[in-house]
Amino acid sequence: MDRQHDLELILRSRMPIVVIETRDEKRMLDLLRNIALARASDTYVPLFRWTVTDGLQRLDIDLEPQLHNAEPPDVLKHIRAVTKPGMYVLLDFHHYLEDPVIIRLLKDICLRYTDVSRQLILISHRIKLPQELESFVARFDLALPGADEREKIIKRVAAEYTAANPGSRVQYDPKAYNLLIQNLSGLTDRDTEQLARNAIFADGVISKSDLPNVMQAKYDLLNLGGILQYEYDTAKFADVGGLENLKRWLSLRKPAFLKDRKASHLDTPKGILLIGVQGCGKSLAAKATAGIFNLPLLRLDFATLYNKYHGETERNLRESLKTADIMAPCVLWIDEIEKGLAGRGGETGTTQRVLGSFLTWMAEKNSGVFVVATANDISMLPPELVRKGRFDELFFVDLPSREIRKRILEIHLSAREQAIDEIDTDAIAEAADGFSGAEIEQAVVSSLYAAHAQSTGLSTRHLLEELERTKPLSVVMEEKIGHLRRWAAGRTVPGD
Ligand SMILES: Nc1ncnc2c1ncn2[C@@H]1O[C@H](COP(=O)(O)OP(=O)(O)O)[C@@H](O)[C@H]1O
Ligand SMILES: [Mg+2]
Repeated sequence: MDRQHDLELILRSRMPIVVIETRDEKRMLDLLRNIALARASDTYVPLFRWTVTDGLQRLDIDLEPQLHNAEPPDVLKHIRAVTKPGMYVLLDFHHYLEDPVIIRLLKDICLRYTDVSRQLILISHRIKLPQELESFVARFDLALPGADEREKIIKRVAAEYTAANPGSRVQYDPKAYNLLIQNLSGLTDRDTEQLARNAIFADGVISKSDLPNVMQAKYDLLNLGGILQYEYDTAKFADVGGLENLKRWLSLRKPAFLKDRKASHLDTPKGILLIGVQGCGKSLAAKATAGIFNLPLLRLDFATLYNKYHGETERNLRESLKTADIMAPCVLWIDEIEKGLAGRGGETGTTQRVLGSFLTWMAEKNSGVFVVATANDISMLPPELVRKGRFDELFFVDLPSREIRKRILEIHLSAREQAIDEIDTDAIAEAADGFSGAEIEQAVVSSLYAAHAQSTGLSTRHLLEELERTKPLSVVMEEKIGHLRRWAAGRTVPGD
């Protein structure tokens, strides 16, 4: 009811154009019809709807569409010629707002509004108005349902379930029920209802197992071909060898991040930056962070941000960050952040603005979005990004020590169903000095092929031979890694 009241106020504000950006077109039309019909007879104004397919049509009473007014200039000329007040809802008119004739016709109608109050209501998912019209426009935000309204929707769907399945009531785990109310935030009424229906009608139970599906469906609804990826396979921290310091740090902050009631006096962590040697588990650790927090993982690819959306980079960044805010609580993973932020020839202005937008969002965000960014190449990292206070902590991920190499080896052998006790993991860990986690994994993969080719089981010998054959990246990049370590010494804390 409140929204109907707000909309009525805007309609009465005597602005010739009212702009409403929404994807919930049906609900908007229902609201408008209610408003028109509720008006007293002395203030009654007819309500019309226009689409390019049907032309003009009365909305408040049942009349056939007038197909002859389907062309955009025709409908505007028609409205301009009308001498009585009216409200005209133009659906998906955003396509035509760059045409000079259309702009002029709109302006004509606006300029004569004081003589004849014909009000235009533009409804589209997104509307960019030409500047010359801005002063004639009021905007209405169809606010999204709040927690109370979401709960009402869920209850309504639950009642529908009971009606459809006589004798059965929806069962719910109270914790999952509250999470469902929370996780449905940021969606329209219609989408909220749809997702609640999917969750409830599947089995008549609201349980924790419904939540990943809800989050994924929500992501699908929100992400209109954007650059934010939903990552399905998050890792477990047991999949990561080493990085004990990082694991400890994250475990300590989990309650504060998840807003545990007992942790309400703790500051909410914002995010971390993982810097270090390639192939040592930064990306893996980012995925595992979502695992440890038990939250959806969204990946923002800065490189695609530039390449795919040339010229619209900033807006796409802002929209992606907004989507992440709506998906909260979640982990936002920005892999190889330096690639998206390093000055690009001729594009340094954009880069600066993108960095600015990102840092502002980081500083102001008060949401449940935990950022995990990774970087390999410090020479490309803008200094503003690593300044104190941007991220909660900068972790350095170095080549693994012998102990950790052994652990990584065991992880990857077990992942491929190899019996660890048959293999001299100590000897192999020793021989793998200078190898990254990725290279150790690669050695396991290759030696399994070798053993298979010889029709034998995997043995220590296969692994040692494989290591022997490989020249690890750390040898080739010795100088670079030395430089990286010196840079990291004063600026970062060790991941291990
Ligand atoms: N510390 C580690 N523990 C377990 N596996 C690792 C580790 N480091 C690297 N790997 C393996 O190597 C792969 C590539 O590592 P990745 O996380 O992409 O490294 P980075 O992002 O630091 O370049 C991982 O998916 C994993 O299989
Ligand atoms: Mg990586």
